[in-house]
Amino acid sequence: MAIATGLSFAPFPSEVRQTSAIGAEIKLPPQMPIIDLDLLTASDHEVLRQALFENQVVVIRNQKGIDPTVIPKLAKIFDPSATDTHSAGKNAVSDPRNILSAYKAGRIPRAPQVGIIGSGKFQNYEGDHTLFHESPLSQETLEEGYTRPYRWHMDTPFYERLPGEVTILHSIQIPKVPDQKIKFPDGTEKTVAAGATAFFSGARAFDLLTTEEQEFALNTTVTYAPQAYEYIRHCKSSEDGLTIPTFGRETKPEDLSEWSWGQVAEHPMVWRNPMNPSRPFLQVHGCCVYKLTTRDPKTGNVSVINDVEKVRSIVYGFQKRIYAAENIYAHRWIEGDVVIFHNRGVMHSITGQLQSHAEGKRLLWQCTMSSQTPPQPFRAYPGVNDTGFVRV
Ligand SMILES: [Fe+2]
Repeated sequence: MAIATGLSFAPFPSEVRQTSAIGAEIKLPPQMPIIDLDLLTASDHEVLRQALFENQVVVIRNQKGIDPTVIPKLAKIFDPSATDTHSAGKNAVSDPRNILSAYKAGRIPRAPQVGIIGSGKFQNYEGDHTLFHESPLSQETLEEGYTRPYRWHMDTPFYERLPGEVTILHSIQIPKVPDQKIKFPDGTEKTVAAGATAFFSGARAFDLLTTEEQEFALNTTVTYAPQAYEYIRHCKSSEDGLTIPTFGRETKPEDLSEWSWGQVAEHPMVWRNPMNPSRPFLQVHGCCVYKLTTRDPKTGNVSVINDVEKVRSIVYGFQKRIYAAENIYAHRWIEGDVVIFHNRGVMHSITGQLQSHAEGKRLLWQCTMSSQTPPQPFRAYPGVNDTGFVRV
């Protein structure tokens, strides 16, 4: 019988985690400087799964030189049903109507599930930090070293393909730029590394709801906009990157790429964690939402909110209280890091004003594969849609 290698994990120190409920480091055994999947046993897999599904974001340090083909295999330890299709699509997406059309020239040929993302040059879910906010930071504020989250999201197009359980990032090059600061609505400031990837936990976001709001969330299904990223491609976000505060710039349905309702994403508002079924995760993308359907468990009555502006404002009301320094984990990249995050347990965003710096280049590999298993509702009420797509 294979003997476990001694691979282990340790949650980040409490001064790093604060109240984010996020973060652990995977410690590889000394004889394995670069992760070697062939040597891992079933019990090592369980340790990895426990580390991730309890802590939502894990890092393995010093993985410079890891073979890109290893990364999709590593992802499958957490999601055995992952397809070998990058969630942004099989081929390079080059449709200029889609703001995710990043992957043109951005895939590793030997490992097409792995994309290359960088600051400025490529556009994808992460986008260009300076372009998306309704009121961008002023030049003066930028020069003082402030930054913001760009757009909080899960890695998924909300159309045709299901979100992956995990995304894996590997830092090839990190910006050599001084630390920057995020200012929060309560006036506190958080120092973050330039180009940090920021995360918040859906479980923590759920905890911050009132009992009534939790009940509403548990009974609600979220329908996303048809071709969601085309739909919002002319829209601008709030300062915190959580929502779209104004209505009117949305692409008209007839101007979207061909679509059908059966391919439009629809998910419960609160998701179940694969290893912790008692912990609810509020997982909703505040910029791409379209419609809410809520069932009253007492009467069985179903109510629908399909005014997009109102839908956004309800979701924003639920999510905006997470936006505080102590609830956000901002990963300070070191070259060689492999970061695995639970795409169905956190929202994430890039941060960093890097364009004006000569040494501001940031290059990451990103592997996010569509899953064949849809996110499961935390509460399996009658009629809940757990198929991942609108039922037609
Ligand atoms: Fe992303």
